[in-house]
Amino acid sequence: TASESRLQLLAGHICARRFVEMELPLRPTLFDFHGVSMTKYFTDNWDDIQNFKARPDDILIATYPKAGTTWVSYILDLLYFGQMCPERQTSIPIQERVPFLEISIPYGVKGKDLADRLPTTPRLIKTHLPVQLVPRSFWEQNSRIVYVARNAKDNAVSFFHFDRMNNMEPEPGEWSNFLQNFKEGKMVFGSWYDHVNGWWEKKQTHSKIHYMFYEDLIEDCGRELDQLCSFLGLSPSAEEKERILTGAKFDNMKHNKMANYSTVQIMDHSVSPFMRKGKVGDWKNHFTVAQNEEFDEDHKKKMKNSTLKFRTEM
Ligand code: A3P
Repeated sequence: TASESRLQLLAGHICARRFVEMELPLRPTLFDFHGVSMTKYFTDNWDDIQNFKARPDDILIATYPKAGTTWVSYILDLLYFGQMCPERQTSIPIQERVPFLEISIPYGVKGKDLADRLPTTPRLIKTHLPVQLVPRSFWEQNSRIVYVARNAKDNAVSFFHFDRMNNMEPEPGEWSNFLQNFKEGKMVFGSWYDHVNGWWEKKQTHSKIHYMFYEDLIEDCGRELDQLCSFLGLSPSAEEKERILTGAKFDNMKHNKMANYSTVQIMDHSVSPFMRKGKVGDWKNHFTVAQNEEFDEDHKKKMKNSTLKFRTEM
């Protein structure tokens, strides 16, 4: 019955619980991993990750960190399970509803194990891996992939504040140094340029990738939801869509403990909240005029051969 399926959606997760944070991890250092800057928290169980068994109906949410992963994960969870099981939004943290494939917190449940044990169909799985490092089975099984990209300037600002508050990340240092590192790709998961372009190129030949932009979501979330639904072959009612759009509003997510990562102890929300501003153009409050000019020049060079276009203000 419907109520049994609803219980299954809740109970299955409770069995799979949870990130056990036995001790606070130390700030890690970056190293080169197959040509990409990484830390031990995302490479420790690499063979396991590479052997992940994807299914044809899995949905992989792929992003460069801070591009809107949580937002789109939340929308997808509402879309698939919100109607049958509204309690999910107030009882299961988003990082358990949508496990982070490559994360391996010391002594805790690995993201890959959480993903293996997900009781839902489809399974919603998050990754920040650049396209060339995604486990092979996602391609073999032809799973659907939703990629979200965000303009480099806001992405860098959001990443900076995230690194300040998240003890699993390398020390960000001063903003000017951080920005230089961002340009050079010395970030966890490597260069923003390689990431957004790598996935964009893959999308040109692979029909199961839906490539979205954070700025478009801000501009018209309803339109983006419609496009997402058509990619997924879903047709929710107008009422259902309204419910999703309301649930996924920035303020609602910011105040929902099951969306705002406040249950995760390695993050210090008093330094900077995970749901920080949720805007396009906050880079203007961080970049100096000189930093902006240098960034634009570098950006132009690095995007010279790309057909990708980003908006940095609205
Ligand atoms: P800011 O730091 O600019 O506020 P990710 O989930 O990939 O880590 O991305 C986090 C960024 O997405 C943060 O950006 C966060 O505020 C923003 N975000 C999360 N939910 C959002 C929503 N519903 N609307 C707008 N922005 C959202």
